[in-house]
Amino acid sequence: MGTILLLSGPNLNLLGDRQPEVYGRATLDACVAVARGAAEAAGHDLEHVQSNHEGELVDALHAARGRCVAVVVNPGALTHYSYSLADALAAFDGVSVELHLSNPSAREEWRRRSVVAPYVTGTVAGFGPEGYRLAVEAAVACLG
Ligand code: DQA
Repeated sequence: MGTILLLSGPNLNLLGDRQPEVYGRATLDACVAVARGAAEAAGHDLEHVQSNHEGELVDALHAARGRCVAVVVNPGALTHYSYSLADALAAFDGVSVELHLSNPSAREEWRRRSVVAPYVTGTVAGFGPEGYRLAVEAAVACLG
């Protein structure tokens, strides 16, 4: 049917090992498998790109334009300050879901603002690895 891009921002490669009290013990590979399972159950392919470099995430979003039907993005800390990622999401012509393992609104003050939120279809936050399934299902539901 279509391709869904899953984008993972800085430090998410350390999932499973990084602050398990906040992010849990699931690895990024495990989260991607959850997302891929949901995408394939709905008849879609899932591509995954992880980078610790803002420009590589922007490039991946540009490459998704006109090619991917939806993007699910956990931008990591870039959520809170990356105007270039916000602009790239604004330029994406499909469904977009912002995703967080934790609930940034319930954490430190600086995490409570998302500069990408105005440019996505919706947000899934606070459900741990299960959020990867919920975010893909939300994207699929929007595709109709
Ligand atoms: C995160 C939340 C961000 O505030 C943080 O910088 C991350 C992970 C999450 O998935 O909960 O790296 O996006």
